[in-house]
Amino acid sequence: MKVTVVGAGAVGASCAEYIAIKNFASEVVILDIKEGFAEGKAMDLMQTASLNGFDTKITGITNDYSKTAGSDIAVITSGIPRKPGMTREELIGINAGIVKTVAANLLEHSPNVTLIVVSNPMDTMTYLVHKTTGLPKNRIIGMGGALDSARFKYRLAEALEAPISDVDGMVIGGHSDTGMVPLTAHATRNSIKVSEFLSEERLSQVAEDTKVGGATLTKLLGTSAWYAPGAAVSSLVQAIACDQQKMFPCSVLLEGEYGLNDICIGVPVILGKNGIEKIVKIELTEDEKNKMQQSAEGVRKTNALLEL
Ligand SMILES: NC(=O)c1ccc[n+]([C@@H]2O[C@H](COP(=O)([O-])OP(=O)(O)OC[C@H]3O[C@@H](n4cnc5c(N)ncnc54)[C@H](O)[C@@H]3O)[C@@H](O)[C@H]2O)c1
Repeated sequence: MKVTVVGAGAVGASCAEYIAIKNFASEVVILDIKEGFAEGKAMDLMQTASLNGFDTKITGITNDYSKTAGSDIAVITSGIPRKPGMTREELIGINAGIVKTVAANLLEHSPNVTLIVVSNPMDTMTYLVHKTTGLPKNRIIGMGGALDSARFKYRLAEALEAPISDVDGMVIGGHSDTGMVPLTAHATRNSIKVSEFLSEERLSQVAEDTKVGGATLTKLLGTSAWYAPGAAVSSLVQAIACDQQKMFPCSVLLEGEYGLNDICIGVPVILGKNGIEKIVKIELTEDEKNKMQQSAEGVRKTNALLEL
């Protein structure tokens, strides 16, 4: 199993590290445009192998896509991250050009690759990859919901004063501060709805804290976060590589599901060896349906900025 990670920055390197530590891939190639940067990150990570007990071979390359040939899965993290006060949507101008070129380069050398798009604004970048590559929809996956759900579980556990392993919950919708739809009505602690333990007001606070989870970290760090994004990507890569048939909310092309068409937005899917094995349709409450429609409108506004 060969995995390529494009972008050796904060998220790309963190993602490569988690993939290696989980020890399921034979090879991880990290590629960056900045001379020597990916080579340095790869060497540093390889020097953790004996300490962390993994056998995955990590190689770094400066912009030579021939070295990515035969990749089964490729993760696109190249582009600029947001700075404090910026929205993910403001990154579109620079990142669209980068993502389009990177996807084309990857496919030239790995025609059977499954692509995981991470660069922001992620739903729109995933849509761009659909429009420009012509790959079947099961092989283009946007990562946002897996991260947002991890942040939701963190906030739920905090409110419940419970260990995170007691908590389950999911965030669907667009990967933006206003577009996320945390499914508070479906969230549980040990199979009991969290609404049994938390007031409506506290649950709304959990949802709001989840939605601004990325912005909160960007303000603290001066740039966007990397540990949880890297871990979330590695979970998607592992689900595909190991044919786990696991459910994650991912940004995928919808063709009528959830009443939406011609848009990439976060919905629950099953991930396995074919990438997206299935889009899972769940019954949403009226409130969640409305929020999903509003979220889609926001994503469409950003999609309209693409020069297709
Ligand atoms: N989807 C998510 O949940 C999520 C979470 C966190 C960050 N992000 C996004 O991921 C992206 C990367 O964030 P980061 O914090 O790692 O940024 P970063 O600046 O640390 O790393 C980006 C890397 O991309 C490289 N790069 C730029 N153009 C390139 C090209 N054409 N080819 C190859 N490499 C190129 C840069 O040299 C840099 O090393 C940003 O767009 C950020 O907003 C998404």
